[in-house]
Amino acid sequence: MRFAVSGASGFIGSRLCAALLKKEKNVVALSRREPSWLAGSKALWKKYDLTDELDAGALLAGVDVVIHCAHSQAPDESARYLAQNVEGARRIKVAAEKAGVKQFVYISSISSHPAAESLYGRSKLSAERLMDPARDLIVRPGLVVGDGGIFARMSGSLAKTRIVPLFFGGAQVIQPVWIEDLCSGIMIAVEKKMTGTLNIADPDGMSYRDFFRAIGRRMGVEPVFVPLPGAVALMCLKLTETLGIKLPVTSENLLGLKAMIKFESAPDLARLGILLKRF
Ligand SMILES: NC(=O)c1ccc[n+]([C@@H]2O[C@H](COP(=O)([O-])OP(=O)(O)OC[C@H]3O[C@@H](n4cnc5c(N)ncnc54)[C@H](OP(=O)(O)O)[C@@H]3O)[C@@H](O)[C@H]2O)c1
Repeated sequence: MRFAVSGASGFIGSRLCAALLKKEKNVVALSRREPSWLAGSKALWKKYDLTDELDAGALLAGVDVVIHCAHSQAPDESARYLAQNVEGARRIKVAAEKAGVKQFVYISSISSHPAAESLYGRSKLSAERLMDPARDLIVRPGLVVGDGGIFARMSGSLAKTRIVPLFFGGAQVIQPVWIEDLCSGIMIAVEKKMTGTLNIADPDGMSYRDFFRAIGRRMGVEPVFVPLPGAVALMCLKLTETLGIKLPVTSENLLGLKAMIKFESAPDLARLGILLKRF
């Protein structure tokens, strides 16, 4: 089987490529720049940008499965952000159909739900709606734990400042998933030819506060929690952003926290036949 993985230079994409290569699969790594891990691997690299018009044959000929991980955080203007990510998902989905790809997997998020307020959650939901639940697979990972992505940024900030601002009470439920478990789950789902939506996240989860306590324990750092009024902070952040002032927390982060909901994942994990390693 030949797999094409977009966002192959990123945290999840690179680990997924490594896991597939370990299983002796053929891998086409799709990314804007040659991934740092490519040299010495058996993967083939093809240049890919979410904003490009795609040549289906050149990009995906001979590919059986596409796993779309690429997601741009860059555009700071909402219409451009949504267009880039949603249109980008549509382009690669259409290209996959034209190239005769058998399985399409879209890596979404548990931030994707109808009450989502962040651009991130809304873009994920809009892209999910482009998928055909009878043919495609939407994977919604929880917060992915490992040496990259948002988790690495959270840990890095805790190590640097020890300060954890708690917005909207800090009782939001975080549902972690280790990167190794996520990659295994995706590979099992592909093997089983699963379609529809699959939530891969800790079924119980833990509060935002406890999640940071757990990160702190692993790093030997005692977090200092600072409760802050979410609504006021949101207004202030929107103002500072309008003025072009960059802060470590963004209004987008707060909107994500505000609308965070707990997802049911136990039935999906049972379908996969896996137990997640606890964080
Ligand atoms: N990490 C998590 O906790 C988590 C949880 C749930 C869902 N997800 C989803 O999983 C996917 C991967 O996340 P991640 O944590 O691996 O993020 P990441 O490390 O930031 O990787 C994002 C990838 O997207 C690529 N990308 C960005 N803009 C692009 C563009 N214009 N054209 C082509 N590629 C572009 C990046 O390429 P460059 O290297 O060129 O920038 C990178 O390879 C995303 O869809 C994310 O929403 C992540």
